[in-house]
Amino acid sequence: MTTVRLNSADPVSIATDALVVGFRSGQDGPRAATAAESLDAAFGGKLADSLKAVAFTGKAGEVAKLPTFGAIAAPLLVAVGLGDAPDEEALRRAAGAAVRSLAGTSRAALALPAGTPEEAEAVALGGLLGAYAFARYRTNGAQKAPVSELTVVSEQQDGVAERAGVLAESVSLVRDLVNTPPSDLWPAKFAEIAEQVGGKAGLSVEVLDDKQLKDGGYGGLIGVGQGSVNPPRLVRLSYSHPEAAKTLAFVGKGITFDSGGLSLKPSASMDWMKSDMGGAGAVLGAILGIARLGLPVNAVGYLCLAENLPSGTAQRPSDVIHSYSGKTVEVLDTDAEGRLVLMDGIARAAEDGPDLIVDVATLTGAQIVALGWRTAGVMSNDDAVRELVVEAATAAGEGAWGMPLPEELRKGLDSPIADIANLQPERWGSMLAAGIFLKEFVPDGVRWAHIDMAGPAFNKGEPYGYTPKGGTGAITRTLIGLAERHASI
Ligand code: BES
Ligand code: MN
Ligand code: ZN
Repeated sequence: MTTVRLNSADPVSIATDALVVGFRSGQDGPRAATAAESLDAAFGGKLADSLKAVAFTGKAGEVAKLPTFGAIAAPLLVAVGLGDAPDEEALRRAAGAAVRSLAGTSRAALALPAGTPEEAEAVALGGLLGAYAFARYRTNGAQKAPVSELTVVSEQQDGVAERAGVLAESVSLVRDLVNTPPSDLWPAKFAEIAEQVGGKAGLSVEVLDDKQLKDGGYGGLIGVGQGSVNPPRLVRLSYSHPEAAKTLAFVGKGITFDSGGLSLKPSASMDWMKSDMGGAGAVLGAILGIARLGLPVNAVGYLCLAENLPSGTAQRPSDVIHSYSGKTVEVLDTDAEGRLVLMDGIARAAEDGPDLIVDVATLTGAQIVALGWRTAGVMSNDDAVRELVVEAATAAGEGAWGMPLPEELRKGLDSPIADIANLQPERWGSMLAAGIFLKEFVPDGVRWAHIDMAGPAFNKGEPYGYTPKGGTGAITRTLIGLAERHASI
């Protein structure tokens, strides 16, 4: 794990392998956003021209490297673009992109705007998230090791670095879980990991196995999981604080692999379905983060874990499930399985009497159609709650946008024989129909939001900012932010 500390020294004198400096894009070329005078002096006023020579403009996302020929203590200068009016997310991304580009280097110092605690945290967090690597399955050393020691140039206190460390560790855990192949991460294994890491953080962790789920009436988890030799689990993690006034419940979709079941997916949409447990990952990471930060709030997390496979014991299209809530559900398509495990998780979470339930799920391809890869859809039974979730996500730099739950879509979920069907006959508005389905399992008067992050959970493209290829850890920090917004002090 990469470490980060703060240092208020003049960046030109810091002994490190690479000095990262943030530059704003301006009309007369890039301008150093910090330590401009000492850099100018050290480079004899020639730094701006040298950067122009390598076509560096200071635009967000740009990274340029210059050897320093002894002009400063570090042998390498990494110029990173901040754009013209950098916000905290621009700082996180710039720090992340720079640190990512330095894989193979052991130490780096980050001289970006870090005057306020929020800015210093953004720089530290972006750097740590950019230092992520998943090399567990490499045997040939082909992957460069991430930067191991980061120094953030700032006069802020060490608490900032600690907080960034907790957030980064939560996100990294989620990325690791998403990246782990399903041969090494099945429901019981996931539950074991939750018990281990949760126990270490002082959480109370309960796991229901398949027998307990069957006896307890969790028809959704049982139905989805019954085609696999790896049976389902429901994990409940709880954190409480003596001064807490509010209780939050998070419910995560944890399909460790989604083949579609008997309604089998085509191969091209199946290879990345190891990421279908990203919601449960985010919930685990968030509850851990909330506990480690000691936030004055109560938080309960439910991980709805199952593997969706076809077999002689798999559920069939047209089966009817008895959900935990008591409602019956006709399974028209076994690939609409996420809502089946979530309906049980949500109904169970409601028994804790929370002030807010938030479910997080890689739920529909329609989310990607509507909002693309990087923007999650947020739906709610309460306009203010939806806006709060979107605000928390935006503040964390996680893309999210409010979406409606149009009442008229409920009719499409009518079943000829059961209380509700798990699929509407047409594909239009499928993200919203999934939300409408879940809403049926939220008891009246309970505030609830649903986050569909099918796209954001997994980056199939190239890395950008602090986001690597593969598992992203999306929405973990949004959930922690929501807990902060419900904290007592
Ligand atoms: N896990 C998928 C959704 C998904 C798609 C996640 C792409 C990540 C990337 C989900 O279980 C699913 O299969 N949804 C179906 C629902 C449909 C059958 C109503 C879908 O979106 O096609
Ligand atoms: Mn599916
Ligand atoms: Zn799925």
